[in-house]
This record gives sequence, C-alpha cells and structure tokens, in this order.
Amino acid sequence: MGDAERLDRPPAWVHPSAEVEPGAVLGAGTRVWRFSHVAAGARIGADCVLGQNVAVGPGVTIGDRCKVQNNVSLYAGIVLEDGVFCGPSCVFTNVATPRAEIDRKSEFKVTRVRRGATIGANATIVCGNILGAWCLVAAGAVVTHDVPSLALMAGVPARRIGWVSHAGEVLGADLVCPRTGDRYAERPMGSETGLRRVINLSGFGEEGFETPREEQTASVG
Ligand SMILES: CC(C)(COP(=O)(O)OP(=O)(O)OC[C@H]1O[C@@H](n2cnc3c(N)ncnc32)[C@H](O)[C@@H]1OP(=O)(O)O)[C@@H](O)C(=O)NCCC(=O)NCCS
Repeated sequence: MGDAERLDRPPAWVHPSAEVEPGAVLGAGTRVWRFSHVAAGARIGADCVLGQNVAVGPGVTIGDRCKVQNNVSLYAGIVLEDGVFCGPSCVFTNVATPRAEIDRKSEFKVTRVRRGATIGANATIVCGNILGAWCLVAAGAVVTHDVPSLALMAGVPARRIGWVSHAGEVLGADLVCPRTGDRYAERPMGSETGLRRVINLSGFGEEGFETPREEQTASVG
C-alpha cells in the first residue's frame, strides 16, 4: 500500500458497547459492532466488519476485508485469510474431544479458512480442517474434513454437492460462471485441490495460496 492510500484510510472504529483489549491489532477501516469482544493478541486486518456479539480470541488472525456476521466466536487456533465471509451464528471449534475438567489449551487445533471462502449461516466447522480458497459452505452444514478450493459443501457431515465460482455462483455442468463468464476446469482425478479457473474474464480474486499442512496445533498461555 502506498503512503497516499494509507493517508486516505479511516481508522478502525469500535462501537461504544464493544471491547477491544489493549494488545489487539485492528487494521484501518475495520469496524467492530455492538457487544463484540476482541482479545489481546488477536490480529485483525483492514476493512473488516465484525457484527454484533462477535468474539475474537487471543492469537486469532483475520486477514483484510473479512466479514464476520452476528454471533460468531473465533477461538484461538482459527485463521481467516483475506476476504473470508462467516455467516451469522456459524460455529468454530478448537478442541476435538473437550472435557470441562481437563485443560487442553496446549492442544488447540488450527482451522484455516483460505482466501475468499464463505461459511453459511449456522454451519459448524470441526477443528483441524482447512477450508480451501473460495469454497462455499452451505447454511447448516457440518464440515468434518478439508474442503477443496471452490467446492460447494452441504449437509451433515458436509459433502461436496457442486462447485462455485470466485463470484459465488453455483456452477452448472459447463463450469462457466453465469455472472462473470469465468471458465473453470476440474483438476485431474485424485487431486485434492479442487477446481481451477482457466479463463478469468472478471479479474476478480486470485487463487488461494497453499499453506503447509503441518501447522496443526496452537497453544495459548
Ligand atoms: C447451498 C446453497 C448455496 C445452494 O444454493 P442454490 O443452488 O440456489 O440452491 P437451491 O435452492 O436451488 O437448492 C438446490 C438443492 O440444494 C438443497 N439445499 C439448498 N441449501 C441447502 C443447505 N443449506 N443444506 C442442504 N441442502 C441444501 C435444496 O434443498 C435443493 O435440493 P433438491 O434439489 O433436492 O430440492 C444455499 O442454499 C445456501 O445454503 N447458501 C448459504 C446462505 C447463507 O448461509 N447465507 C449467510 C448470509 S445471509
């Protein structure tokens, strides 16, 4: 970002009823709405919107231009890359087998949501999984495995029921986005990385970058 652009940016804004602890980082233009809480050590990028009653735990990282709708809790171990949409009341987890009387803070599993992904209302993301770039998780789905990029996932447990474009349109058999004309192709059989865009007319979005799989636990003191 150049200096001129930086000077034009409004600072982050926090509703008087929300609490952002000292030591949390909010990027320029980010807005935090009513009754939300951002813990010390959380890092939130620029131009994000955190809706009402959103909780962001210590060590959570949120990229630029993310939208987190009402009643979403982002626990330690969760990473949202740029442009992620979290629908209202969607649920993240960070311990696979919790017990109230056993401390598992050193065993939090990382859940990474890649660039541009959308999580529908009331969906649940079981921890330790990676949601691929630009995927779309349907309302009410329960994600229990890694999700390929651009996959449309639905149901309990969530299964891939189709593909979506970068613009968020459900693709038909021709794999052409009805909104932008972008064209897609399936990756070779056995590939885990999902669809790829072969003609980019829209210029919208970039392919998600791959992050090493080994980053799978987080600990918060
Ligand atoms: C999954 C989704 C993208 C499908 O959109 P669509 O292609 O327009 O879906 P349609 O309404 O044509 O339904 C297609 C089929 O999928 C089923 N379906 C739709 N949404 C579903 C869901 N959330 N879970 C399971 N099945 C679903 C429909 O019942 C239908 O099945 P049928 O053909 O057997 O009748 C959409 O329904 C959805 O869940 N979007 C997320 C909305 C959301 O949470 N927004 C949050 C911000 S407001």
